[in-house]
Amino acid sequence: MDIKQNIAKTIAANVGADAAELCEWLETPPNPDMGDVAFPCFKLAKTMRKAPNMIAASLAPALGEIDGISRIEPMGGYINFFADKTSFARTTLERVLDEGARYGGSDVGSGKTVCLDYSSINIAKPFHIGHLSTTAIGNALRRIYDHLGYKTVSINHLGDWGTQFGKMILAYKLWGDKETVEKGGVRAMMQLYVRFHDEAEKDDSLNDRARAWFKRIEQHDPEAVEIFEWFKAITLKEVGKTYDLLGIKFDSYAGESFYEDKMQPVIDELREKHLLKVDNGASIVDLSEYSMPPCLILRSDGATLYATRDLAAAIYRKNTYDFDKLLYVVAYQQSLHFKQIFKVLELMGKDWVKDCVHVSFGMVSLTDGTLSTRHGRVVFLEDVLNAAIEKTLDVIKEKSPDLEDKETVARQIGVGAVVWGVVYNGRIKDIVFSWDKALNFDGETGPYAQYTHARCCSVLRKAGGYDRAKIDYSALSDEASSALVKAIAEFPAAVSEAAEKYEPYIISRSVINVCSCFNKFYYDNRIMDENEGVRNARLALTDAARNVIKTGLYLVGLEAPEKM
Ligand code: ARG
Repeated sequence: MDIKQNIAKTIAANVGADAAELCEWLETPPNPDMGDVAFPCFKLAKTMRKAPNMIAASLAPALGEIDGISRIEPMGGYINFFADKTSFARTTLERVLDEGARYGGSDVGSGKTVCLDYSSINIAKPFHIGHLSTTAIGNALRRIYDHLGYKTVSINHLGDWGTQFGKMILAYKLWGDKETVEKGGVRAMMQLYVRFHDEAEKDDSLNDRARAWFKRIEQHDPEAVEIFEWFKAITLKEVGKTYDLLGIKFDSYAGESFYEDKMQPVIDELREKHLLKVDNGASIVDLSEYSMPPCLILRSDGATLYATRDLAAAIYRKNTYDFDKLLYVVAYQQSLHFKQIFKVLELMGKDWVKDCVHVSFGMVSLTDGTLSTRHGRVVFLEDVLNAAIEKTLDVIKEKSPDLEDKETVARQIGVGAVVWGVVYNGRIKDIVFSWDKALNFDGETGPYAQYTHARCCSVLRKAGGYDRAKIDYSALSDEASSALVKAIAEFPAAVSEAAEKYEPYIISRSVINVCSCFNKFYYDNRIMDENEGVRNARLALTDAARNVIKTGLYLVGLEAPEKM
């Protein structure tokens, strides 16, 4: 960071350009032989009326001394800058060790609010493997924005409204009992729901009775509301276990039902603005001009829809949180839905809709079929996490029989392995989850990163500390050490880029880069050197690596055990 600014300032002074703009142009060369920073001279070719290689040749020797740079070389149309390894190691490590857990963070977001709508489970339905991505990506983005100084609001937009709840209540009244549902939870509710559909095929009158029950919920009939709230409480208690395993908390559980009394003003506003059209008895917003199907606002029977609730929710969130950004972490299957919602908000004149983003992602499937047979065709996320924990515990018992508190470590690694499967890939990619890959300690996996972190902790523990005042930074100029310094220095940029692109994997990759550089450094160098300055330098570097791996893992949603 600092050397880039020094370079930009010096070039700016020589060619009479803006240093901030020049800084943006600086690149990282494709390999270390070409230095640490490169300046592409073709950017100046137009104003200087000279060929890029001519500019490089004449400008390079004219730059003189630059703080933190040991060598400057023209190469074709580029000027390559070689960082002074000793001073680069010093500035990088001092910063990491001073900032600790805050390293990679900043205050760019101070005073700004980001609302994140993620996980958003459905009441009385399973919290299944399909919710893994929204949950893991949403949680990671939340932590990343927190790290950058934003105020974040995490929202679980519960799916807790719709005619299916009339069916659920009727099925419960006909065939259910309190104890079975209390004990069986969502699984028992699902069975009731399945039974309802089977029986309704034979007896259509059940559908009318179910509709009547939903009407009773809408009219706040005490009995209907009580059963409905009870279904909700059971579901939330059950998913709460999964959230606890993942270390996830929500600021708001305002779901679809929350907007029940907040939709009428939106409908009125749509009507006032002449956006509402009646079509076959239903009320719609015509979007044909924008090559989209109409956005359905009211059904012909007057019932509101998913889209109606989302319009009310967006407006409510703007009024309540005055967000600078509202992120919807939802599968790509709902792309059209969000395009429609955003367009309708735009037509309503809500200029803040430009701050709403659909952060979409691909599908997760399992290679291992065994899990999917346990409870019918749905794979419960809780089962996946517990299976990962069990498998990890077996491995720990076999490989590290003396480890204390094996259960906690197994949870940290097992859950981490599953989460990593999502946060190590670009969002849009479909993911096929495989146990072998996820629990592999050698591949580019969560457990591998956690293991490297534990190794750093072990080195530091055995050394019993080091003296920061007595570090010989020149001991870090060998290839492996300087590569690790560089990997550590690149971490803050990875955090910013991850936030900008809504892509946690950019941080995961940066963590893996630090891990593999650390492991190479660890094999190449004897950390406990007799020379105090050298030893302290290597321990400080180990400490910095430990810190970055831990912070990076936290940001993408993983814990970092100190012993494995
Ligand atoms: N409950 C929905 C589902 O499971 C996701 C809700 C996403 N958020 C929203 N504001 N529409 O598909």
